[in-house]
Amino acid sequence: MIKDILDIKVTRAVESKLPQVDWENLPFGKVFSDHMLVMDYKDGAWQTPEVLPFTNLSLHPAVSVIHYGQSIFEGLKANRTESGDIFLFRPDMNGRRLQESCERMCMPEIPVDLFVECTRKLVEVDQNWIPNKKGYSLYIRPIIFATDEYIGIRPSETYKFMIFTCPVGAYYSEPVNVKIEEYYTRAAAGGVGRAKTAGNYAASLYPAKLAQEQGYHQLIWTDASTHEYIEESGTMNIMFQIGGKLITPSEDSDTILRGITKRSVIELVQSWGIEVEERKVSVKEIVEAARSGKLEDAFGIGTAATIAHIAKMGYRDEVFHLKPLEERPISNSIKETLNDIKLGIKPDTLNWCLKV
Ligand code: PLP
Ligand code: COI
Repeated sequence: MIKDILDIKVTRAVESKLPQVDWENLPFGKVFSDHMLVMDYKDGAWQTPEVLPFTNLSLHPAVSVIHYGQSIFEGLKANRTESGDIFLFRPDMNGRRLQESCERMCMPEIPVDLFVECTRKLVEVDQNWIPNKKGYSLYIRPIIFATDEYIGIRPSETYKFMIFTCPVGAYYSEPVNVKIEEYYTRAAAGGVGRAKTAGNYAASLYPAKLAQEQGYHQLIWTDASTHEYIEESGTMNIMFQIGGKLITPSEDSDTILRGITKRSVIELVQSWGIEVEERKVSVKEIVEAARSGKLEDAFGIGTAATIAHIAKMGYRDEVFHLKPLEERPISNSIKETLNDIKLGIKPDTLNWCLKV
């Protein structure tokens, strides 16, 4: 195991910021733990990672990430179980997805076991930052960005890999209102939609802002060429329930982020004997099901969002109000079971959690 051969150097923060944290009022992504992990790429190789006190960076104005956007990120969570163990949820999958993003963005890949060990080490160092509160976790944000000081366009020859963490509650504090978007596009075939790259999120801001002005939290993206098929939501994958079956857009196209939560939900409900269809999902069938009262449930799925029930779905001039939460037994069970597995309350029969 890499853990036995790589002893990551740790320089501890002189003073912890923990006493300043208001645990009763934790805004998502604004409170940062005491340390960060840093690993540089230069001379064709990743250098030795190090854990350092969390601090600002100093960057040259010509650093290429700022200009041309070679920047990718990941998101995963750590939780403390009732018996005091610390669990990371499927970090190997984040490591593999980071590699896929690296390949698409011409960035150097990090071996999955090295990625996992870097994550494990940082969480071990900042374990006191894991919230002890139901629905709360330590959100872990790995990033890689280009650091060449050069304004010509080519893949950078130097990069920085960093991980930092934030104690958080759920990204959405209430069920979400979403609008089916038929003009703007998140990702086109052949583009970078499958990569977890910064530009995808930058491109989504303006259409999301327009939807927010109409009272929605997020968009449901449709395919770029016809806008007839549903893809995913802004920060999460999406799932519908019709006739007792769960239906979700397949990841065959390279326009949808391959969600780790979604994969886990599919594996979980299949183990319960519930049928899941991963296929093209047309806007028409979802809208018709909503019109005729056959849409039993719709929810977003993601690391930050966890399971975000959809309360209201907008389509052109129509607004569909979905069932009250207490009438959505499948998604409620999914949410509770995922949470219980992460907290060690239910057994991790599918072997998802890595003990720190
Ligand atoms: N789709 C997008 C665009 C996302 O940003 C996310 C969040 O990571 C997801 C889907 C869900 O992916 P995961 O479950 O791996 O967090
Ligand atoms: C995550 O769920 O980890 C995400 O990346 C969503 C984020 C954009 C807040």
